[in-house]
Amino acid sequence: MEIITRRGPRTMDRSEFDQLRDRFSSTLIDLGTGDGAWPRRFAREYDHCLAIGVDADRVALGEAAKLAGRKPARGGAPNALYVAASVEALPSELHGSADWVTIYFPWAALLRMILSGDDALASMLNELCTPRARLSLVLNAEAAPDGFAMPTPGRLHPVLQAPLSQARMRIVRCEWLEAQGAPPTTWGGRLVKGSGRTMLSVEATR
Ligand SMILES: C[S@@+](CC[C@H](N)C(=O)[O-])C[C@H]1O[C@@H](n2cnc3c(N)ncnc32)[C@H](O)[C@@H]1O
Repeated sequence: MEIITRRGPRTMDRSEFDQLRDRFSSTLIDLGTGDGAWPRRFAREYDHCLAIGVDADRVALGEAAKLAGRKPARGGAPNALYVAASVEALPSELHGSADWVTIYFPWAALLRMILSGDDALASMLNELCTPRARLSLVLNAEAAPDGFAMPTPGRLHPVLQAPLSQARMRIVRCEWLEAQGAPPTTWGGRLVKGSGRTMLSVEATR
């Protein structure tokens, strides 16, 4: 798979990835990570975990990798990894590796996949997740793409039921999220700051 490091892109094969993963007790995969701030923060707080940010935007990942590549005393996180990929074609190296999948403030194809309850969501989770994995999803309810109604807990729960049960997950929470509960991502910070925008949170587990 293509990883983005502070020195630029390079390939990491399955055996190198497995060796890396073996050094940690669990693995977080953040899909649509954007500037990758969340996996870096998580990695700094939990140094026994591997935190992976995945995004199709290589420029944003390049900046993320530079910050993560700093010395830990200067904000770096040696246990953060950035993978360049679109969620529709996740590299096979990641298969069966995620103990926790986070998707925070998705847009474009990733958001449409969620709002339509697409089978691709189930396939993606089945590919990525370990047998006891969990999923955390936070949406900006006011940014529905064209053709979609504003998501509400009452609309989203039934839409997600089928793909999540195909992924052997059950929804444990699907509710409005207060500003103070926003995940510590860059978009979470932007939305919360004074805008009063509405967020939706979904938690699911195997
Ligand atoms: C609004 S940003 C959110 C970034 C970050 N999660 C945050 O909360 O700050 C949405 C991100 O999803 C990514 N994205 C959207 N569709 C994607 C896809 N199909 N595959 C990979 N990344 C995707 C975009 O490149 C963008 O970085």
